[in-house]
Amino acid sequence: MGNLRIIIWIYVIHFCSLHFHVNCVRPTYQFTTKLSFIGANASGAEALAFDYSGGCPFAGVADGRILKYNCPSLGFQDFATTSPFRTKEECDGKPAPKCGRVAGLGIDYSSGGNLYTLDVFFGFFVVPPSGGAAIPVATGYNGTNFSLPNALDIDQASQYFTDAEKLFLTGNHTAIFASNDTEGKVYKYDIKTEELTLLVDGLTGPAGLAVSEDGDYLLIAEFMKKRIQKFWLTGKRANSLETLITLPGAPDNIKNCKRRFLGGVRVSKPETVEIVEAIGMMFNGVGRILETLNFTSEYNGRMVEEVQEFSSKLYLAAASSNFVGVDRDDFNHLRL
Ligand SMILES: *[C@@H]1O[C@H](CO)[C@@H](O)[C@H](O)[C@H]1NC(C)=O
Ligand SMILES: *[C@@H]1O[C@H](CO)[C@@H](O)[C@H](O)[C@H]1NC(C)=O
Ligand SMILES: *[C@@H]1O[C@H](CO)[C@@H](O)[C@H](O)[C@H]1NC(C)=O
Ligand SMILES: *[C@@H]1O[C@H](CO)[C@@H](O)[C@H](O)[C@H]1NC(C)=O
Ligand SMILES: *[C@@H]1O[C@H](CO)[C@@H](O)[C@H](O)[C@H]1NC(C)=O
Ligand SMILES: *[C@@H]1O[C@H](CO)[C@@H](O)[C@H](O)[C@H]1NC(C)=O
Repeated sequence: MGNLRIIIWIYVIHFCSLHFHVNCVRPTYQFTTKLSFIGANASGAEALAFDYSGGCPFAGVADGRILKYNCPSLGFQDFATTSPFRTKEECDGKPAPKCGRVAGLGIDYSSGGNLYTLDVFFGFFVVPPSGGAAIPVATGYNGTNFSLPNALDIDQASQYFTDAEKLFLTGNHTAIFASNDTEGKVYKYDIKTEELTLLVDGLTGPAGLAVSEDGDYLLIAEFMKKRIQKFWLTGKRANSLETLITLPGAPDNIKNCKRRFLGGVRVSKPETVEIVEAIGMMFNGVGRILETLNFTSEYNGRMVEEVQEFSSKLYLAAASSNFVGVDRDDFNHLRL
């Protein structure tokens, strides 16, 4: 019996590492590293980005700051802010609408490291590589303010971002799932021409977005519909939307990971909507789930908003925690 179990386990690992089309469920995680926000008096990262030169993460936190982790030992320090009304005295450690709330981050490496960011209250901004006060890029479209700018990705000269339902601000998931809201949108911003275009309308909680490696499609996470939509940007199917995959829970941010995608997924039973499993899922662009990562034991009934791979490590952001989780496992097997 013992031998049989060992053989089966090796078989599963083998399949995972060779990318066979199996939905591998990894055992529950225990982080060995937590990049703490305590020194910066912050919590609640909802977005991460990486500076290629140092590989130390930027984190958008709940009180309206973008922090940068100064490797190896200085920890998170202030880097930029979005709200024009924010003061350190009134806002550090005390999230409030006037302080801002950073929900999306993306670095334009081609520009030498401009950091683009979304604030759920104040809109779309760019931060120069030196940091400081973020410069507004757009606050709305065609005379109407954005509702809840939420997720961002960059493909060279184009920025794509979602605008989700204000209802998310309540944090009441019973109400969020019951709303049937279809006001969610995806916009494209052309950095050169400064033109803002509405690409997709009618979405139900577009909480995540990622551009494909070749820039030929977007994946959009529809939180309340628990699914990933695929929007074609080029080719015969350009400008059409199709359902790529339905998930066991509500997806938040999605990140491109070497021709695969990683998403933070909120799994709960309808009757216990506030008791949550923190799950990360890896899937590909044709809708196959490749791996399920279970972070439940580290997050104690709350979800993980973002799972991102950088330099063979996984980094996790959660609005409910005061750290960035780093998984020490070697994720080289994600490379094709
Ligand atoms: C953190 O911020 C809170 C709220 O502004 C403040 O009361 C507390 O003293 C701060 N703690 C530190 C260590 O700065
Ligand atoms: C902009 O808003 C006006 C007035 O609400 C509307 O008639 C028009 O169709 C909108 N244009 C676009 C491109 O959405
Ligand atoms: C739109 O946003 C601007 C700037 O953030 C604000 O001053 C204005 O009141 C908003 N308009 C509406 C209709 O909410
Ligand atoms: C959440 O929303 C549901 C449905 O709208 C409502 O019954 C419930 O009282 C709300 N919960 C809280 C804590 O506001
Ligand atoms: C959402 O749709 C469900 C199922 O169609 C319906 O029962 C519910 O009343 C709708 N909720 C709202 C707020 O319209
Ligand atoms: C994740 O782990 C928890 C225990 O920590 C377990 O209850 C749950 O079923 C697991 N979920 C999945 C999808 O593996």
